Amino acid sequence: MASDRLQGEAEFWLFGYGSLIFKPPPHFDRRVPGYVTGYVRRFWQTLSQDHRGTPTAPGRVVTLIERSFYETLTDHHPPGSDRIWGTAYRIQAARVAEVREYLDIREINGYTIHYTDFHPADESSVIKTLVYIGTPDNDQFTGPQDPQKLAEHIYRSKGPSGPNKDYLLSLEAALDGLSPESGDGHVKDLANRLRRIETGSDTVISREAIEHELQKVGSTDEQEETEKHGF
Ligand code: BEZ
Repeated sequence: MASDRLQGEAEFWLFGYGSLIFKPPPHFDRRVPGYVTGYVRRFWQTLSQDHRGTPTAPGRVVTLIERSFYETLTDHHPPGSDRIWGTAYRIQAARVAEVREYLDIREINGYTIHYTDFHPADESSVIKTLVYIGTPDNDQFTGPQDPQKLAEHIYRSKGPSGPNKDYLLSLEAALDGLSPESGDGHVKDLANRLRRIETGSDTVISREAIEHELQKVGSTDEQEETEKHGF
């Protein structure tokens, strides 16, 4: 049937905005950097036990939130650019069914299939892509998170696919590498917080703060002594 033939011959493109950027799907024959619009990327999806994270301490991964819905929420980070950068992959025609099966196993935890227009960085024609999104109605969607607590949670979480922090740092590096404008403020801020947690500089800061406070107390005591003794 003509419609079957058309369906069979249609190209299959996949848009990756998370781990797919640095961990490509199998059997792609084209890889194109670019962006989609109308979303905000956030670490607001809980990762169940079969990826990074355990059932008791599941990690966090990114999802896309439609901007119109995002604007109804109170977030700690600004929404950032309307361009959500990532990578589109064209899957070899003969391997589409196989790859889709693989992706369903790999990605389906709370994520559902959507389609979105992808804009290649080189400004060539827009491509219709399939994208996996954890929408706000899925059980694993967390909604807005305190960035420091989120970074600490990512720092602590680990699972069969590896440490959750590796996911965050790999995503940061992969985004920085796509284009001069592809960095993501939310991802960057979490990665910076994570690095400070890792190096203990958060602890150093609070120790400095404590010392500062102690000095103030000391000088107040001295001042009181001075006042008492009339010096
Ligand atoms: C992504 O990289 O786009 C992605 C990976 C896993 C689940 C959903 C999306």
